[in-house]
Amino acid sequence: MNLPNIKEARKRTKNEVEHIYLEQEYDKNAFKNKKYFLRTYGCQMNVHDSEEIAARLESLGFESTDELEKANIIILNTCAIRENAHDKLYGFLGRCKHAKKLDDSIIIGICGCMAQEEGVVKELMKKHPYVDIVFGTHNIHELQDLILERNSKQNIRVYSCEGNVYENISYKRDSNIKAWVNIQYGCDKFCTYCIVPYTRGKQRSRKSKEIIKEVKDLVKDGYKEVTLLGQNVNAYGKDIEGELSFADLLQSVAETGIERVRFVTSHPWDFTDEMIDAIANNDNIMNYIHLPLQSGSDSILKKMGRRYTKNEYLELYNKIKGRVKDVAITTDIIVGFPNETEEDFLETLDVVNKCKFDGAFTFIYSPREGTPAATMEDSVDLKTKEDRLYKLNELINKYSLENNKKLEGKVVKVLVEGISEKDNNKVFGYTETMKLVNVTNAKEDIGNIIDVKIIEAKSFSLDGEKN
Ligand code: 5AD
Ligand code: SF4
Repeated sequence: MNLPNIKEARKRTKNEVEHIYLEQEYDKNAFKNKKYFLRTYGCQMNVHDSEEIAARLESLGFESTDELEKANIIILNTCAIRENAHDKLYGFLGRCKHAKKLDDSIIIGICGCMAQEEGVVKELMKKHPYVDIVFGTHNIHELQDLILERNSKQNIRVYSCEGNVYENISYKRDSNIKAWVNIQYGCDKFCTYCIVPYTRGKQRSRKSKEIIKEVKDLVKDGYKEVTLLGQNVNAYGKDIEGELSFADLLQSVAETGIERVRFVTSHPWDFTDEMIDAIANNDNIMNYIHLPLQSGSDSILKKMGRRYTKNEYLELYNKIKGRVKDVAITTDIIVGFPNETEEDFLETLDVVNKCKFDGAFTFIYSPREGTPAATMEDSVDLKTKEDRLYKLNELINKYSLENNKKLEGKVVKVLVEGISEKDNNKVFGYTETMKLVNVTNAKEDIGNIIDVKIIEAKSFSLDGEKN
């Protein structure tokens, strides 16, 4: 067994990543009539990994269930980005332990980013022996073998070093209207607070011809939207000699004719003019960009290792706003980074006041063991951090509502995805700018892009009717 040690990750030398074409065949009857329960925590990358995990479970004959009590195998796909992820996992494990007490044949599996943490794996081995299999983010392709080979011992398969890039992966996609498409794994940025480069390894891009083939297949299957997925999408290709840049990849994906192209997440440091041109010049590349700010203070940005200043962020923001028509921009912000002063925090509010973001994910800094920031001295108390988060959210929500209000009375294009959860007479979908809309009179339009007149704007959604 090769236990992950995140301190080693920084020392890795650039290794030659292989692009491997998987050809795996399994017995569809191996677990016929057996059920799987799959719970996903965390980001879109994990959501998409779960689509792969589901397909792998179904290749052995398992069927999906939403009821834990009915499951023959329970898989928890975990997230490690903030400390509260641990509490969530161990809370849920209590339920799994109980289920296993009632039926010893149930298989319990833990995967995802927490499985890449040395401390977590040790704790699972010591305190949770009823967990049958543990597999890391680089070992998903081994899931069927782990299940088939299991015995009375805990089976752990976690590589501490990044794996290869696998092709020919099957997914059980959550939607038949919009799809995630991985373009890159891992991240080379090593922002000082972030655990991702350790849990997901160095950046490894897929080959552009495979990405384009996947999008073309999705178009053939009737998909309307793809979201190109990576931790730092605009650094795409930099790790493969002669590969397309992200701007060129965007252009090629747009040329497949798919109706909507999106991408997450962009790092301001890698955002090029060519990218802005590609977005501005192609109607099917959506005018929506998620552009994490993290902090507005130059000294905090430096300590975070973000590689840009407040002014450089603002310049980029204004350039995008000036060139891409009606673009919506959202962001991520962390408050309470070690020793963040009131002045630092006011700099962040100043950027929010200048950018008037369409929305933001906001977080209190959470120290992650093994990252450089976790060893930094921090004199700011939790109450101050909570107050800052509260103030920040008030401002974010104010601008979000203001931006949404501008749409009242306007007609926008909405890709209708399904029936609204709150009101069965309405459908829901997203605008080109990624705003959630609940629509009346459009039940027959699921899967279509329709014109919707916005009747009322709220902070986090819009109400509209089919035009
Ligand atoms: N503490 C708080 N927030 C974090 N993020 C990443 N690492 C941490 C951390 N240690 C936030 C960043 C990132 C988003 C996905 O999560 O804002 O953009
Ligand atoms: Fe983490 Fe994103 Fe920074 Fe990569 S670019 S280290 S994923 S915050």
